[in-house]
Amino acid sequence: MKATASSAMAIRTVQRHIIENQRKHHPGATGELSWLLSGIVLATKIISDYVRRAGYIDILGSTGDENVQGEVVQKLDVIANDTILACLGYHDDVGIMVSEEDDEPHIIKELDDRAKYIILFDPLDGSSNIDVNVSIGTIFSVMQRREDGGGGKVMDHILQPGYRQVAAGYVVYGSSTVMSYTTGDGVHMFTLDPSIGVFRLSKENITMPPAGKMYSVNEAYFAQFPKGVQEYLKWAKSDEAGGYALRYIGSLVADFHRTLLRGGVFLYPPTKKAPGGKLRLLYEANPLAFLAEQTGGAAHDGTQRILDKQPTALHERTSLIIGSKAEVDRVLSFWSD
Ligand code: AHG
Ligand code: MN
Ligand code: MN
Repeated sequence: MKATASSAMAIRTVQRHIIENQRKHHPGATGELSWLLSGIVLATKIISDYVRRAGYIDILGSTGDENVQGEVVQKLDVIANDTILACLGYHDDVGIMVSEEDDEPHIIKELDDRAKYIILFDPLDGSSNIDVNVSIGTIFSVMQRREDGGGGKVMDHILQPGYRQVAAGYVVYGSSTVMSYTTGDGVHMFTLDPSIGVFRLSKENITMPPAGKMYSVNEAYFAQFPKGVQEYLKWAKSDEAGGYALRYIGSLVADFHRTLLRGGVFLYPPTKKAPGGKLRLLYEANPLAFLAEQTGGAAHDGTQRILDKQPTALHERTSLIIGSKAEVDRVLSFWSD
């Protein structure tokens, strides 16, 4: 339905929702976080436009470079990274930005009472799927500088456990462009209306299904998984389990989005190639774990809750089991064997 003047008031954009949500749950809020999130909204609209045009403008394929992760950088990784840095870098209240694509943090300005926010992000998740038109996404996490200043070093402010996040979210560039965010008061989902260029509210206060007969894992690595994980996967295929389906897109953000809506469990266990897990704690596992727990789900690394993990390095990797509480608990019941 095209927007008209009268229907304009009915349109609950993500910006309007963020402000209303802040007023409702944080009456003393200064509006800084809302303004900050609007920078992320703008960046993801721009990225979405590039993604939709990638097939006929020369931005597919790799740059030929390798990033700090040891992965070949795709052109769209760089475009997404530069877009987020540009859309947030000028915000007075952003002190530090951490990107999956960059070895070191971007010190936008010294952290102080004004520049208190730290933005951590995976600018483009699922890069291996860019050239084959499979859903990809952007994942972001927002922290605040430590009031106690930590040990006084920049990394003390960045390496905080995930339970200290003040906001988190993702955008999945799929059959439509969908954004989910939380500021700690539930998870809310918006769909981009390209005809007027706004994210429109599609689901409010989402609850992840408490269980779901769907597991999401790259079974090619089965032989490398810990014994307990192998036992879980054998169980899931058994008559006793009855009727589990396997869905694996290969873009964490898309596999998580499906799990959030349909239930089930996504797991990326340790492998020989990635003994500490492949996914990154600060800007993949932590933000999605925040969203999962806000919707009644769970996120674990096999030994502890993801949000409790004390990071020790910027690009630290972790194993990840995330999804419906009952399904995560079931995987853990096998994992510890
Ligand atoms: P990124 O493209 O940001 O490097 O992330 C890719 C990640 C994640 O999106 C996905 O779940 C995982 O890599 C897939 O790994 P495998 O190809 O090893 O299954
Ligand atoms: Mn990623
Ligand atoms: Mn990425």
